[in-house]
Amino acid sequence: MKIFFSSFLTVLIFLQPIFSAAQRKTVDQRVDSVLRLMTLEEKIGQLNQYNDDWNATGPVTLDSTKKEQVLQGQVGSLLNCVGTLRTRTWQNIAMQSRLKIPLLFGQDVIHGYKTTFPIPLAEACSWDMDAIQLSARTAATEASASGINWTFAPMVDIARDPRWGRVMEGAGEDPYLGSKIAYARVKGFQGNKLGEVNSLMACAKHYAAYGAAIGGRDYNSVDMSDRLLWEVYLPPFKAAVEAGAATFMNSFNDINGVPATGNKYLQRDILKGKWNFKGFVVSDWGSIGEMINHGNVKNEYEAALSAITAGSDMDMESRCYKNSLPQLIKDKKISAALIDDAVKRILRKKFELGLFDDPYKFCNAEREQAALNDPAHTKIAREMAAKSIVLLKNENELLPLSKNIKTIAFIGPLVKAKKQNKGFWDVEVPGVDSNFIVSQWEGLQNKFGSNSNLLYAKGCDIEGDDKSGFAEAVNVAMQADVVILSIGERRDMSGEAKSRSNINIPGVQEDLLKELLATGKPVVVLINAGRPLVFNYTAEHAPAILYTWWLGSEAGNAIADVLFGPALGGINPSAKLPISFPRSVGQIPVYYSHFNTGRPATDDSNRNYNSSYNDLSIFPKYEFGYGLSYTSFQYSDLTLSKKKMKVNEPIEVSLRITNTGKYDGEEIVQLYLRDKVGSIVRPVQELKDFAKVKLRSGESKTIRFTIDKEKLSFYNQQLQWVAEPGDFDLMFGASSRDIRVKDSFELLN
Ligand code: BGC
Repeated sequence: MKIFFSSFLTVLIFLQPIFSAAQRKTVDQRVDSVLRLMTLEEKIGQLNQYNDDWNATGPVTLDSTKKEQVLQGQVGSLLNCVGTLRTRTWQNIAMQSRLKIPLLFGQDVIHGYKTTFPIPLAEACSWDMDAIQLSARTAATEASASGINWTFAPMVDIARDPRWGRVMEGAGEDPYLGSKIAYARVKGFQGNKLGEVNSLMACAKHYAAYGAAIGGRDYNSVDMSDRLLWEVYLPPFKAAVEAGAATFMNSFNDINGVPATGNKYLQRDILKGKWNFKGFVVSDWGSIGEMINHGNVKNEYEAALSAITAGSDMDMESRCYKNSLPQLIKDKKISAALIDDAVKRILRKKFELGLFDDPYKFCNAEREQAALNDPAHTKIAREMAAKSIVLLKNENELLPLSKNIKTIAFIGPLVKAKKQNKGFWDVEVPGVDSNFIVSQWEGLQNKFGSNSNLLYAKGCDIEGDDKSGFAEAVNVAMQADVVILSIGERRDMSGEAKSRSNINIPGVQEDLLKELLATGKPVVVLINAGRPLVFNYTAEHAPAILYTWWLGSEAGNAIADVLFGPALGGINPSAKLPISFPRSVGQIPVYYSHFNTGRPATDDSNRNYNSSYNDLSIFPKYEFGYGLSYTSFQYSDLTLSKKKMKVNEPIEVSLRITNTGKYDGEEIVQLYLRDKVGSIVRPVQELKDFAKVKLRSGESKTIRFTIDKEKLSFYNQQLQWVAEPGDFDLMFGASSRDIRVKDSFELLN
């Protein structure tokens, strides 16, 4: 008792100056003054993250002592604990611990919180950084009002294999676009600065190369050259650091035989070394312990040693740190300084968030209610959703639908679905059900109104071979002027642990389309999915196709906005694909920025003895950067300020874009470069810039780009970032394949 009392006094004496003079001290001083008070157990506690008792994405160790451990200061953070009530309850417990170090509450706020936004891959189709940032900002506003202070997002993994279910969670195949989006998302989540009441810590994940799992099988190994790693997979992570990302998450995969979680090269040398990252790294769920399965370490003790040495600061749910770090210190396998460094990184963020000043900062029930019911968020979600819809085909200008249409048949298994529209990685917010999500049916009703005849038939299920609903669907179609068919995958067919070997549109949905087309009625197909699907029959035969992905809580309204377009107060689609769509699974991986090879096939007529498949076109079904509009754009007047460039004297480029169609619209103008000769061979095309240009019907604008050394640089054999003198092709396109104007220039010695 005496001992307890005297140590309590000591704590009080030390804490007093920390907290009362808080404003005058720098964060680092405050961190140090807390650190000095901590026992080894308390320090290790800060490195320990537990799941609350629900919503798990991995095995949960049932642990009735969790509360006791928080009381003892042995837990630094909880995940999957949402809502002001629940987080306040846990924070209260932490506030009864000896040092009252507040908990962090982490959550996968991936694409919205209550208001659900399009899945990240869909948002990436907008190529609209302001809109993407606003989406993340809005999600942060809601989540941070609901107890959360840390999101496990953005996922910035480049992905070129749509079999991988998590392709839905990233920004697609391209490092340039991916980096821009990573930057925008981090800025969006974190807001002006950590410490503001509506700011969440971002977490760039999964570091690194998780998206390159062999065969697209989730959690699989990655085998990759350093060049590919640096040139394609690391840039979005670097962009996240530049945007100020507070945290990183490492990944489940091994990379060239070393698990990312125990990978010193990635975490210490690159991230915390070369990139000078000051935040902390959390493991992925149980990934420290999983190094035993990888066969890289023998037991938990070795796993903890490997992970902490490599730079993983916080252990999500494997308990290896809690169980083994004390012994590792005792055995002098690691230094106290190593633990201190990890603890300081975590405490620093707790200070920056303002949790030491007010541990309940994010737990204000009134603010929560206001944020979760803010009508402005609904509007933002609707606009973002409309910007994410890709018009893949539009024969005879079937779309936008005429407002004079009398009868529409809206058919398909997804027409009346509500929750499906959220896609994977939604958050179950306490007290909120799916009713507020606008189904496609409701969206069309809202737009088309009562002066119309809106007919419905389900037709078939998403999966299975039951065609018994076809007759009714055909019957309904026969009564309509136009048919809209909404098909696709289920929302949980893509996402974590949702890799698939068959990515065709499932079940008999394309058979249903066949029957509907046989009626002779015009059919618009909506494809709902979390990944690029294979749908060759639809692509060949349906006159109009909109790829709607999963658009979130305003899906129905946004789809109606695009179906009817500007004539009914809606939207002219402008989205472009951030990932290539394969013709078949056998064509994967297919991506635009490939090397030329020694035997290049440049079109389908010269495939023989050139790099190609004998039985398949060399082109993807839909290429990177592809997407149509209701209007048309002409590219002209490409001008270069010079054709020979000195390294530090950039070329100014301009070109004219004209809206030649009858609708106002937006065009995403894409700048591609090809370095003709390189000491490391260069891709046939690389996206190096783009602009989203808004043009009224008939309007022209001159747009300008700068080509500087940075755009011409790549990693050479020594992994130095260099621009090599020589010839470059400059291409401007409406997609990676649809190049409209081009020229060339030379970089001088
Ligand atoms: C996923 C992470 C996620 C974590 C927490 C893991 O299974 O890979 O992306 O943040 O679970 O839910």
